[in-house]
Amino acid sequence: MTSPIAVVVLAAGAGTRMKSALPKVLHPLAGWPMLRHVLENVGQLKPARTVGVISPGAALVAEAFAPHPTAIQRRPLGTGDAAKAALGALQGHRGPVLIVFGDAPLVTAASMRRLVAACRRKDAAVGVLGFVARDPSPYGRLIVRAGVLEKIVESKDANTAEKTIDFCNSGVMCLDGRLVARLLGAIGNRNAKREFYLTDAVAIARAAGHTTVAVEGEEGEFQGINSRAELAAAERALQQRLRAAALTAGVTMTDPETVWLAADTRFAADVTIGPNVRFGLGVRVARGAEIKAFCDIAGARIGRGAIVGPFARIRPGSEVGENVHIGNFVELKATRMGPGAKANHLAYLGDSDIGARSNVGAGTIAVNYDGYGKHRTIIEDDVFVGSNSALVAPVRIGRGANVTAGSVITEDVPRGAVAFGRARQVTKQGRAAALRAKLRARAAAKKAGTKRAKKK
Ligand code: UD1
Ligand code: CA
Repeated sequence: MTSPIAVVVLAAGAGTRMKSALPKVLHPLAGWPMLRHVLENVGQLKPARTVGVISPGAALVAEAFAPHPTAIQRRPLGTGDAAKAALGALQGHRGPVLIVFGDAPLVTAASMRRLVAACRRKDAAVGVLGFVARDPSPYGRLIVRAGVLEKIVESKDANTAEKTIDFCNSGVMCLDGRLVARLLGAIGNRNAKREFYLTDAVAIARAAGHTTVAVEGEEGEFQGINSRAELAAAERALQQRLRAAALTAGVTMTDPETVWLAADTRFAADVTIGPNVRFGLGVRVARGAEIKAFCDIAGARIGRGAIVGPFARIRPGSEVGENVHIGNFVELKATRMGPGAKANHLAYLGDSDIGARSNVGAGTIAVNYDGYGKHRTIIEDDVFVGSNSALVAPVRIGRGANVTAGSVITEDVPRGAVAFGRARQVTKQGRAAALRAKLRARAAAKKAGTKRAKKK
């Protein structure tokens, strides 16, 4: 039996470089707030408890941590001080305490697991995830002598020799739960920034004769987010991971770099995705479906073998059934389409239920909004809706009915009926030439009128 893990997520920093009214850790990445990524990643280690450290009044951040408890760091006096704020919530915990940053959403569960495993194996008081940085200047340096991690020196406190070291602190640290209160309690603030550095825990542990370990990871995982530019870079990195995972799961993408996924997008095997497709949160795509170029899909299920796009927009609450065809410039909102139904061109289908095999013609609008409320349009199975029809909701078109092109349908259409909702055509034999002469004369008169006006 291994002892349970506790996780502390530090998120009490000011985040001023984001220049945002929204707390930094709530900025979205692949549709989720940054913090949710951190919580999902640490969640994979199945911690017995998780504690967030937040600044006073950060109610939205506390909400994002729920159901996990939060501790408040009164003033941002440094990472060591922030970790100390969590001690109350760690009472009685004797296993590893993993400390991570709320603004580092790319750290994988696999790396954190390796760190915890190394700490357990060596019975280390402190373990650190390190990485070789291309540009080490912003990071704390890991001072390793004869294979032993002796201390971490922050950039501002490093001497010339230490500044040349490129093995850096990722910020992910693992402390022995039995020692955590003592180690954090011993941290002072006699340094360049007058801050309580969590990183001092390493030297403190060494001085007390404890073991420390450094585990190396990939730089790409440890990009912290301090600015909008870094947020954009993290988005790119995350998109790369999501695309790679989709390809591995059996999805074909013509141009993966142009497909934008959400953190929770789910694909079955043999899905095909064309270029320039964006997925918002909450999309599931079943086996064999094809999403063609330039579609935007959010909060929807796409059934087996369905064909969507190019240029389709599918909004939340929609369910696209098996073998449904949705063509260009078709928008669906909270609309279900039964198996084999088709809407191939230019349609708005909002708050609608469309039955199996029904065909919705080009230019059809489900008129779902009367300026005050939304209403549903029900189209039963095997219905044919002619082009350019307006279906004024609430309205129901019965099974097998036929709505003729250009109809405005305001009343229910019974099963098997044909409905005409348009003015009758008037045809006047041989009158085209006379009409043209009249129109020509009118245009000439108008032109003469404007010339006279200009001369004046
Ligand atoms: C920290 C590390 C550095 C490491 C780097 C990796 C320390 C002293 N330094 O530096 O060795 O290379 O991360 O990116 O730990 N926070 C609080 N309260 C505070 C201060 C910070 O909650 O009083 C939180 C922040 O919200 C953030 C995290 O701690 O999530 C890191 O703080 P930050 O100030 O960015 O640390 P760095 O100076 O980058
Ligand atoms: Ca930082």
